[in-house]
Amino acid sequence: MLILNELPTRNLGHINCSSIGRKPETRVLGREVVFVKYVVWDSAWSVGVAEIDRQHRKIMDMINRLESARVNGMSAMMVEGILEELTKYTQYHFGLEEMYFDEFKYEDAEKHKAAHRALTLQVESFRKAYSEKREELTENIIKFLQDWINIHIKGSDLQYRECFLSNG
Ligand SMILES: [Fe+2]
Ligand SMILES: [Fe+2]
Repeated sequence: MLILNELPTRNLGHINCSSIGRKPETRVLGREVVFVKYVVWDSAWSVGVAEIDRQHRKIMDMINRLESARVNGMSAMMVEGILEELTKYTQYHFGLEEMYFDEFKYEDAEKHKAAHRALTLQVESFRKAYSEKREELTENIIKFLQDWINIHIKGSDLQYRECFLSNG
């Protein structure tokens, strides 16, 4: 497990549901499928760039879908699909942020890129553990991802807001 300052300080085995936006909401969509919405977008998290905000919402949606798949006991193929999508999309999203860092000469770029690398490795390790080692996708893993994303978006990403806005 990577230990960086952005990682949730709670032990993976003792994560609880106390993060902002993490109050579980469920709604029944028919056929007894329950959609779990742990992560809810908040306009206070806006980084001031519509495209990036949209991507953040999409990442949150993927995590909600992952948790929904888990609680509904959906097929391994479906869970693998979401994990693969999450892995690829976070890489794409980080790439876009980093392109702007370089273009705008963002002063905290290196620290932020290191956080991206750590998250990328973590997501990839969960994907591999599930797909290749057949490990279970536990609630704690989902909550860990939610915490990580929440902390990154509300913390590091908000810090580049002024830099991006001042560069138009
Ligand atoms: Fe981001
Ligand atoms: Fe970021």
